[in-house]
Amino acid sequence: MNPVEIEEAVSNLALEPFDAVEFPFQFLTAFDNPATTIKRLRSGTTNQSDVLGGVLQRNNIHIATCSPGLVDATLKALRESPKTASAKAKMILATDGEAFQAEDLNGGGTVACSYAEFPDHFGFFLPLAGITTVKEIRESSFDVKATGRLNRLYVQLLKENPDWATAERQRDMNHFMARLIFCFFAEDTDILLTEGLFTTTVEQMSAGDAGNTHAVIGEIFRAMDTKPAERDAAGLPRYAIKFPYVNGQLFSGSTEAPHFSKVARSYLLHIGSLNWRKINPDIFGSMIQAVTDDAERGSLGMHYTSVPNILKVLNPLFLDDLRLQLEEAENNGRKLLNLRNRMARIRVFDPACGSGNFLVIAYKAMREIEAEINKRRGEMDRRSTIPLTNFRGIELRDFPAEIARLALIIAEYQCDVIYRGQKEAIAEFLPLGAENWITCGNALRLDWLSICPSTGTGVRVTSDDLFETPLDQAEIDFENEGGETYICGNPPYLGSQDQSAEQKRDLDVAFENSLKSTKSADYVSGWFIKARRFVRRTAGRFAFVSTNSICQGRQVSLLWPTILGSELEIFFAEPSFRWSNLASKKAAVTVSIIGIGPRSNAPKRIYTNGLVMEAKYIGPYLVPDIDTVVSPSRKVLSDLTPMTNGSMPNDGGGLLFEPDQFRRLVQDHPSASRFMRRFVGSNDSIQGEMRYCLWIDDADLGDAEQIGIIHERIEKVRVHRLASDRPETQELAKAPHAFGERRHRPGVALLVPRHSAEARPYLPSVLVDDRTVIGDSAIAMYAFSLADFAIFSSQLHLAWVATVCGKIKTDYRYSNSLGWNTFPVPKLTARNRLDLARCGEAILLAREAHFPKTIADLYEPEEMPDDLRRAHEANDEVLERIYIGRRFRNDTERLEKLFELYNKTTAKPGGVKKVAA
Ligand SMILES: C[S@@+](CC[C@H](N)C(=O)[O-])C[C@H]1O[C@@H](n2cnc3c(N)ncnc32)[C@H](O)[C@@H]1O
Repeated sequence: MNPVEIEEAVSNLALEPFDAVEFPFQFLTAFDNPATTIKRLRSGTTNQSDVLGGVLQRNNIHIATCSPGLVDATLKALRESPKTASAKAKMILATDGEAFQAEDLNGGGTVACSYAEFPDHFGFFLPLAGITTVKEIRESSFDVKATGRLNRLYVQLLKENPDWATAERQRDMNHFMARLIFCFFAEDTDILLTEGLFTTTVEQMSAGDAGNTHAVIGEIFRAMDTKPAERDAAGLPRYAIKFPYVNGQLFSGSTEAPHFSKVARSYLLHIGSLNWRKINPDIFGSMIQAVTDDAERGSLGMHYTSVPNILKVLNPLFLDDLRLQLEEAENNGRKLLNLRNRMARIRVFDPACGSGNFLVIAYKAMREIEAEINKRRGEMDRRSTIPLTNFRGIELRDFPAEIARLALIIAEYQCDVIYRGQKEAIAEFLPLGAENWITCGNALRLDWLSICPSTGTGVRVTSDDLFETPLDQAEIDFENEGGETYICGNPPYLGSQDQSAEQKRDLDVAFENSLKSTKSADYVSGWFIKARRFVRRTAGRFAFVSTNSICQGRQVSLLWPTILGSELEIFFAEPSFRWSNLASKKAAVTVSIIGIGPRSNAPKRIYTNGLVMEAKYIGPYLVPDIDTVVSPSRKVLSDLTPMTNGSMPNDGGGLLFEPDQFRRLVQDHPSASRFMRRFVGSNDSIQGEMRYCLWIDDADLGDAEQIGIIHERIEKVRVHRLASDRPETQELAKAPHAFGERRHRPGVALLVPRHSAEARPYLPSVLVDDRTVIGDSAIAMYAFSLADFAIFSSQLHLAWVATVCGKIKTDYRYSNSLGWNTFPVPKLTARNRLDLARCGEAILLAREAHFPKTIADLYEPEEMPDDLRRAHEANDEVLERIYIGRRFRNDTERLEKLFELYNKTTAKPGGVKKVAA
């Protein structure tokens, strides 16, 4: 169950007559406990309660119902119960059906309310369903509830109005929902002057059979679109005249409403009865956008991005600087005024704004600073000089774009109430401004400077680059002389494999041929290049949450020299952290935040787990003081043995044998073993598994085909290759007994897995003998030395790979052209090689001592055998002494040295490309 479903179940429970015996079980069922758990608790098998009328669920909650008036005493009994402690209950709950009290025993607070109101606190209990929500969701039961109810109404209306469900009318439907949300909010916050005006009017004026509900709503909307001066002529019905003029584009255009059934009408009235005053625009938008999205609906409320995460972008981008200026101004009126004037000209621009959460948080934070300025200047009820229209966005989907504007409007109203008072807030709220400062369109095709120009008036999107249909246009006339623009957001990440043809074209358009190829670029890189172009023309900076992949592997040399050029720099970064929504869904991705602005001498900041580190500069690997970009190299740059890809069967399964197939073959045809080799790939090598393969020299083909099974297998390969539409593969059908790529070489080889779990303390590689073919899922090093093995297995090499190679999820993706060929090693003497070879041998012997443990077992971080760990440490000691005469203190020092050497090695034409020109 997701939070919305749980909220519904809890609300339904509160509506039923209170049953003291059943309540604990009903409560636990509402919080997603399976029937078997309830059955066992009910039968007493697992109920460990020692309190009268109590039900104790181990590691979870101790609940007791009681006679009227005994809630305090019962809660005390639960708190003091020895069983509560021994069964490690997280919460206690007591109710008599009238009063309701609960306590989080781990210091998470208390709930004390009437029984009827307990569903309003369902967020408090979400941990019982294994949902460790971000704080805001726990405290925003209202938003989850409203989202669930609106979703029900939306689905019902589409069922009853199939024509509104078509692609052409989707926009009308979304617009209708946005209007409803505004009406619900406005009627509960005195904006409509009479409390509950909208819901009451619909209830009173529309018939019980709902036949005219759409007409009543349509007339109300028409009133909200009619200026006072035009009202007499408009012929509005009497009930609609009471509604003020709102427009602000929200009520412009058709005022048609979809038809309502009795069910839809009752849903609407129910939604109207909620207390919309409690709406939280930080979070509401993110949830509500799921209402109209089929794919998202199942996970309503799950895509909330927490405020602290958003502040990780906004604070270092510009809010910290504003707060610093505020602090430095103290009570100096002129300095405070300067800051206020500065803020009035700041634009915040999110070009993938979704429902506007970054903009809302930025707006609220700036209003807080402004309020402090006004307080210090003794101008408490002064009207805000921060224009809402300075918070601009682009969003592809129309509903989130509508909601973004609505969320900002609501945020403005709420800030006015907080900082100026309800009366002033209402007096100036209506009519809403007619500007549309959130543009619905494709950010990679639009001209950002026309949507958010740095200065001047007449702001208007005149055209998008390629689409023929015109987009909703930003229509704000605007003066912003001397203003700053901060671009921020969390644009979509999509690896090259996941992009549609259209999105690939978006990237081409965005990069305007500034890259050799955008084929392997992540979609998010389009936002970086557009932002770069923007800030080169204006006073501005930008910071995005981005997938880590653009700071790893091949994307680094592909993108970063173009993104930074010689005039921009990374001025802050938060490398690699998990950006999570609701913890229960584990929907987290690993991301980095990267802030970019014009070059300056100011120190740069790297944020990690709440700590800040200063650096002279930050390069694209987001490591302090390293701005080198490592390009893939076909050749090894140091004196190391080259690696090569493994052998690819390209066989449709014909050449490979599972172990039991192999055993049967050699049992029935002992002579077949001559044509067989072991076959090992990346995963096999780590997990200690293997398969077998046919490996037939051309001269032996005749003998091999005498064996029926081998003949059949070869035929299978031929058929598979002939069926291919690639001419190269068809050509391979001429030699179906052989691998598509034969890279195997005689002698012992080193197998390097292409992927390895990040948690392993060293990169694994395994030795394989002559009778083993290394598959193409791995990399091979033939004719290697033990010194090569020692270097590969070192902490230094891991530090390099972790920085310059790519990752896939949390695994390192080893690339020989980046990880090995570029790895800088000083000139090794014969003595160095001998010492390293001894260390390599010691590592192999230590592994051997634990046979049959697999590489996965041996390099499990917590389980690594001591002798193996010691052998690796001795190896690190010897290698690091070769580099600097002692051990490095940490990876920062390792990387500094490695990049220094790399720069020296490549300081010739065709070598390193520095970010800074
Ligand atoms: C990861 S979401 C971030 C939204 C919001 N800041 C949040 O945290 O929920 C990315 C947003 O970009 C929008 N988007 C995707 N492609 C786009 C494009 N080409 N132009 C504009 N917006 C786009 C998506 O619809 C989505 O709302």
